[in-house]
Amino acid sequence: MPDVAYLNGRFMPLAEATVSVEDRGFQFGDGVYEVIRTYRGQPFELEAHLARLERSAKALELPQPYSHSQWTHYVLEGIKRAAYPEAKIYLQITRGPAPRDHAFPENATTTVVMTIREFHALNEEIKGIGVSAIVIDDIRWGRCDIKSVNLLANVLARQQAKQAGVFETILVKDGHVTEGAVSNVMAVKGGAVVTAPEGPLILSGVTRAVVLELARKDGIPVQERAIPQADLFSVDEVLLTGTTVEVVGVVKVDGKAIGTGRPGPITQRLATLLKRVTG
Ligand code: PDD
Repeated sequence: MPDVAYLNGRFMPLAEATVSVEDRGFQFGDGVYEVIRTYRGQPFELEAHLARLERSAKALELPQPYSHSQWTHYVLEGIKRAAYPEAKIYLQITRGPAPRDHAFPENATTTVVMTIREFHALNEEIKGIGVSAIVIDDIRWGRCDIKSVNLLANVLARQQAKQAGVFETILVKDGHVTEGAVSNVMAVKGGAVVTAPEGPLILSGVTRAVVLELARKDGIPVQERAIPQADLFSVDEVLLTGTTVEVVGVVKVDGKAIGTGRPGPITQRLATLLKRVTG
């Protein structure tokens, strides 16, 4: 079977999965999601993704449709049905269909969606060269820790990256780097990895947590503090972490070289350490 969908308890081909036009995910962006990838057919950090999905749902007072073990069962079943060498699993819970009214409906039932598609990792050649980014104002709301499907500011940021011909957009709020449009941002300064602390201004990335833990264990100092925008061009390295990008060096920001203009030694070390974990 090619692309697989799971909708409210039933597996089906992705092309057959449809939801109501009154779904609050469609009308209000009233829902939460996760993106998980497999390595050698196994979902990476599934528990961490499920825990974040639970936290996001709780923050929006969305009922939890499944326990972690039920989710795990469906995710593994979906991976098996799709049978791709590597898969990208998308989970989404919305507040479900209801006549349009902003406040929560009385008796809505959540819409639960999972899709499984083939995952294509970022090309190793690109990782070797590093990627470019632009900086824009972070115009998102005050709860970026919730992985909500309300992604309009991220959509606009990604479109700007596309138009500028760069890989990612680095978001800046009040003079400090928050994160990327679809990734977390780290810098290396004086041998230490610096990245914005967890909190409402960033999504607490699953890859971010894994990479910071690997860095600490490897004796690389980690500083969880915001990176001033003004420091972006004086740091030694800039890198991105995320499910889809893993660890990738940013070698150019707004057309100016970062460090030597090549992925730096700490970036390469972190990429190697992550690879050891993922296989
Ligand atoms: N995005 N920050 C933002 C805003 C993100 O959207 C993501 C992931 C990350 C990295 O988080 P993680 O390491 O848990 O993937 C950080 C996913 C891949 C997406 O929206 O497609």
